[in-house]
Amino acid sequence: MKIRLDKFISNQLNIPRSMARTQIKRGKVSVDGEVIRDFAFSFDPELSKIRYKNEAVSYKEHLYLYINKPKGVISATEDKQKQTVIDLLPEAFRRQGMAPVGRLDRDTTGLLLITDDGDFAHNVISPKKQIVKTYIAELDGDITEEIIESFKNGITLADGKKCLPAVLSRVCENTAEIKIYEGKYHQVKRMFGVVGLGVNELKRISIGGFSLPENMELGECRELTDEEIALIFE
Ligand code: URA
Repeated sequence: MKIRLDKFISNQLNIPRSMARTQIKRGKVSVDGEVIRDFAFSFDPELSKIRYKNEAVSYKEHLYLYINKPKGVISATEDKQKQTVIDLLPEAFRRQGMAPVGRLDRDTTGLLLITDDGDFAHNVISPKKQIVKTYIAELDGDITEEIIESFKNGITLADGKKCLPAVLSRVCENTAEIKIYEGKYHQVKRMFGVVGLGVNELKRISIGGFSLPENMELGECRELTDEEIALIFE
């Protein structure tokens, strides 16, 4: 697929479009060895070699990241007061269009995907795709067999919305692992609310077959490998 040179330079170097145009007009960019000063020049980035100030510019159509979200940070692209997950991205990972894939509450920690690929995000979130999301929940009471059974049968939330069956298992008395296949607003907390349990701590540990590595610091961000992306959809 063809792309305009100014868009490509702006995206891949993470600089404003206006700055990309200036650099192109000044002759700093070459396409397949030839300096191109026309910023509207269009080319296929899969087939051409681009150099900026004589250094190769690598091409990635999309970026796929994951972060170990800390508490206090919101799952949004921008906010006037609060810190967002996008604010946590290292400079090298900042690009136009990067957005969290779904949401974790402000006080929820753990695995959050971030990408500029809308189709990918849709496929991960869509309840139709039934990608399992696994959480560890620390509760203010005990998990009984009846609660496990009612999660298995599909909880009906206080507003009457029916949830898909969820798999609840006890880790210890008041800590549970829960697997859900959709992502309704505050879903896990609301599901436990229905059975009279409050959630003190919530952490997402995996999406599909991909789990947050144990050695990852809170706030740390990494790029997903192709194998890890495949695991998400496993
Ligand atoms: N369910 C919740 O209630 N909160 C989250 O952050 C994620 C799932």
